[in-house]
Amino acid sequence: MVGLWVLAGIIAFLIVEKFVRTVKGGGHQQRKRKRKRREKNGSSLICSSNARYCKAKNFYLDLRRFDEFATRQGDTYRSFRENIFEPGEVGGHCRLDKPLLREQGGHKSPLQSWYAELEEYNGFDSDPFETGGCDLIIDKPSVFIKLDAGINLYHHYCDFFNLYASQHINGSFDDDINIIFWDTSYSIYRDLFIETWSAFTSNPLMKLADFAGKRVCFKDLMFPLLARMRGGLYYNTYIVSVI
Ligand SMILES: *[C@@H]1O[C@H](CO)[C@@H](O)[C@H](O)[C@H]1NC(C)=O
Ligand SMILES: *[C@@H]1O[C@H](CO)[C@@H](O)[C@H](O)[C@H]1NC(C)=O
Repeated sequence: MVGLWVLAGIIAFLIVEKFVRTVKGGGHQQRKRKRKRREKNGSSLICSSNARYCKAKNFYLDLRRFDEFATRQGDTYRSFRENIFEPGEVGGHCRLDKPLLREQGGHKSPLQSWYAELEEYNGFDSDPFETGGCDLIIDKPSVFIKLDAGINLYHHYCDFFNLYASQHINGSFDDDINIIFWDTSYSIYRDLFIETWSAFTSNPLMKLADFAGKRVCFKDLMFPLLARMRGGLYYNTYIVSVI
């Protein structure tokens, strides 16, 4: 019996390894490009295919209408609303490859990709960081995360597992980061495994609603792998790739 558990552990480890490599693979060119761009003032948004993992520099998010959609009648508990942003409400000072972004919508779904949140990303001519367009500037590296059910061990650990894989992709395990639950409502997330977060951050957990009414600017942002990605890491992960 013990032998079986060890074997299961090894297989799980190999799957993580393979997965991180798959996501990382082909990213060399992008990383190089990013390094060059980072010397300049301005924003960037870089994603793996289907917007399953993204990183952003100097990211602008206008949440002044948060209250409006979060309190919409008969619809107050929807955590993952789509199509909530209007042009100009999310973006950064950069030249956006719009056709490339448009191609990443194939997995648009709450726990499969970040496309719904990022599809309205726009490249602005001016830099809100410099023109006083931000009500709040968050310097600390931050992670947005959309969560599976917090009352269930299987479901919730898919969140943690994928966040851990995302730390590998980013190559950073610093716990002085913000973790912000992406939830487009004022609902309270029931979390029976809340202690686990201390493995990832030493700071208080936050949620999108904490920024309601503000234009928030993030200097360093990660959109990690999610709990139900196609062919991703979750309790039903296929051993043989089917995608
Ligand atoms: C851009 O550069 C100016 C100084 O040249 C600096 O004050 C500002 O904070 C920079 N903006 C960002 C987003 O880093
Ligand atoms: C991602 O890596 C960068 C260094 O490349 C680091 O500054 C940042 O804190 C990391 N982000 C997270 C969320 O760990």
